[in-house]
Amino acid sequence: MDKQAANMLRGKRVLVTGGTGFIGQHLIRRLLSVEPSQLRVLTRSRARLGELFGPSDRRRLEVVVGDLSLPDDFEPLCEDIDVIFHTAAAAPHRPGVSNAALSFNPVNVKGTARLARAATRSGVARFVHISSTAAMGTQAERVVDEQTPCYPDSPYGRSKRNAELQLLGLCQTPGFDVVILRPCLVSGEGQRGGQLLTLFKLCRRGWFPVIGNRLDLEKPLLGVHDLVEALLLAAARGRSGEIYLVHSDGRHTLRQIVETAGRLVGNTRPYRRIPLALAYVVVGALAPLAFLAGRAPLATAPQVSQFLSERRIDIAKARAELGFRPGQQDLGDMLGRTYEYYRHSHQL
Ligand SMILES: NC(=O)c1ccc[n+]([C@@H]2O[C@H](COP(=O)([O-])OP(=O)(O)OC[C@H]3O[C@@H](n4cnc5c(N)ncnc54)[C@H](OP(=O)(O)O)[C@@H]3O)[C@@H](O)[C@H]2O)c1
Repeated sequence: MDKQAANMLRGKRVLVTGGTGFIGQHLIRRLLSVEPSQLRVLTRSRARLGELFGPSDRRRLEVVVGDLSLPDDFEPLCEDIDVIFHTAAAAPHRPGVSNAALSFNPVNVKGTARLARAATRSGVARFVHISSTAAMGTQAERVVDEQTPCYPDSPYGRSKRNAELQLLGLCQTPGFDVVILRPCLVSGEGQRGGQLLTLFKLCRRGWFPVIGNRLDLEKPLLGVHDLVEALLLAAARGRSGEIYLVHSDGRHTLRQIVETAGRLVGNTRPYRRIPLALAYVVVGALAPLAFLAGRAPLATAPQVSQFLSERRIDIAKARAELGFRPGQQDLGDMLGRTYEYYRHSHQL
């Protein structure tokens, strides 16, 4: 991959948050190969970090146990650090995370802002943040880029957008650079839960809902190894105060995704067609029941609209400014790795 970008991190003092997460663990493995002078990791669980990394890797990590949702002082965590990769977040469809704002805001908004403010006080030079295309919500435009206005339509999406806004405010601090990546749905080994687990489960039962018969919709996907390269590129070349959309540029359609998932789970009829009107009626009818039961609804009307929106994401800015060149585009490989991991880790 991009040796020049990786070399720029050699000898730097780096902090990674969310090192036990899906993306964070891949980032740490990549960083270990780059040889920063110091690799500090914030984790809520030393034991979980121990499950993910062998003794020789662990010896090279400086582990700090902490919780971003607590009103702690994060200045010691940021002390003597040049670059922070902030991957920790409460993400949807994860075990133990409900779909309500209460789950997302304390970590994604308040925790991110608290960490970034501590970073400015500690003299950290670069803060690389992972946001999400969920921060954009549903757009009327068919092709979207970083200039497209954001209308997040879920508690998670709003938390990711609010975190972006907090960080963009802080990057006015002299000497403090903030670079934000906005990836779409990420595939690869190491996920706990996630939307792809739901995809495989539904396809296995033949229940994946194809609303309004729209199998031709393009759905962006990104391989985790490409995202990790994008993170290194953002640290090396990203312009401060800028947001970069990233995905595989593979132009995958819903039909290709669902049929590939169907093949992997061994079901040749992985989906059911649902008339559009029926989808809205079912979602509308289930919402009050979910509310009464104190649970997050199965889906909301904005989520149905988002599912149906043809959103082609333009990654020209990441290509031009970061030199981002996604290498993972083979759907069989991207979904295959994810599926094998889910099976291996007994999630499927
Ligand atoms: N996966 C995707 O498809 C995708 C797509 C777009 C954007 N993103 C973004 O990418 C980032 C990483 O996502 P991911 O898929 O790697 O999520 P993940 O697997 O759920 O990992 C999240 C990480 O954050 C940590 N964390 C959660 N709450 C914390 C807290 N209160 N204090 C400290 N650490 C905390 C978790 O620690 P524990 O291990 O202790 O739970 C875990 O290490 C997130 O910002 C997410 O919004 C992900």
